[in-house]
Amino acid sequence: MNLKTTLLAGLLALCTTGFAQADAQHPKIGFSIDDLRLERWARDRDYFVAAAEQLGAKVYVQSADANEQRQLSQIENLISRGVDAIVIVPFNATVLNNVVAEAKKAGVKVISYDRLILNADIDAYISFDNEKVGEMQAGGVLKAQPKGNFFLLGGAPTDNNAKILRQGQMKVLQPAIDKGDVKVVGQQWVKEWNPTEALAIVENALTANDNKIDGIVASNDATAGGAIQALAAQKLAGKVAVSGQDADLAAIKRVIAGTQTMTVYKPLKLIASEAAKLSVQLVRNEKPAFNSSYDNGTKKVDTLLLTPTELTKANVDLLVKDGFYTQAQIDGK
Ligand code: GAL
Repeated sequence: MNLKTTLLAGLLALCTTGFAQADAQHPKIGFSIDDLRLERWARDRDYFVAAAEQLGAKVYVQSADANEQRQLSQIENLISRGVDAIVIVPFNATVLNNVVAEAKKAGVKVISYDRLILNADIDAYISFDNEKVGEMQAGGVLKAQPKGNFFLLGGAPTDNNAKILRQGQMKVLQPAIDKGDVKVVGQQWVKEWNPTEALAIVENALTANDNKIDGIVASNDATAGGAIQALAAQKLAGKVAVSGQDADLAAIKRVIAGTQTMTVYKPLKLIASEAAKLSVQLVRNEKPAFNSSYDNGTKKVDTLLLTPTELTKANVDLLVKDGFYTQAQIDGK
């Protein structure tokens, strides 16, 4: 090889490893969130940014406020800004295949956060075991109300988690249904996990069933709150078992007051810091410690699945021990 070619090859090698090395040491990470108006995601964001910055990364956060088109254009904007990785909480899990393909073409790593993006070439998925969450929700309601009329208040139909939660719920409910102990008198998905939607759905369900509902299997705390508002209007709050998920502060107060039976605590600091670590590892071409895999319709996605914790009045103090809330917050001071 003559001198000129050697120099060119050396320059090229320096450019590729040099630039990649610069990005890898200080990666730029986009965090595209469905809807920061729902309490838990603001906490995910804060924990994620803190953990990522600890690792030398810079984070660009975008909230789509439950708007499908806005999330798509925000992700495109992040790609054009030259981020090295994009972490996505999808509003609609089924419409991201093209924008993910664009990201991959640009050499951007794509991580599905808490909700699985379907039919797209994503690099990784990190979540809590949502089927386990569903089992805990149905189990919590069944423990409080072993027999009676149940209403299934689902999550957003655009959120793949809502379907996995329902699978877990039915795994627990089916034997009680088959025995004739439990009758499902109605079920409905709640658009955008919206508490106002949940309130209207449960108002209608109570009317349609002449208030004869003994348990409501609600898929998160925001929708559980809407359901309990509808129950309170009929003087039924505390008399009907209601599940939830996220350990929202308002839900913890309801669990202590006895109007909500249980919630599921998912250490958000854990998922957020693990996601930050995972994103940086992928940018640095290091091998993350995956412990599961999910078929998303395009591929078997490398997955890191974390363990959720069932919370009732008996163990709600775990949240203070874990630093998720202060005692003053829980006491409402
Ligand atoms: C789900 C998530 C739940 C629930 C809901 C509302 O995907 O797993 O924790 O809070 O979103 O945003």
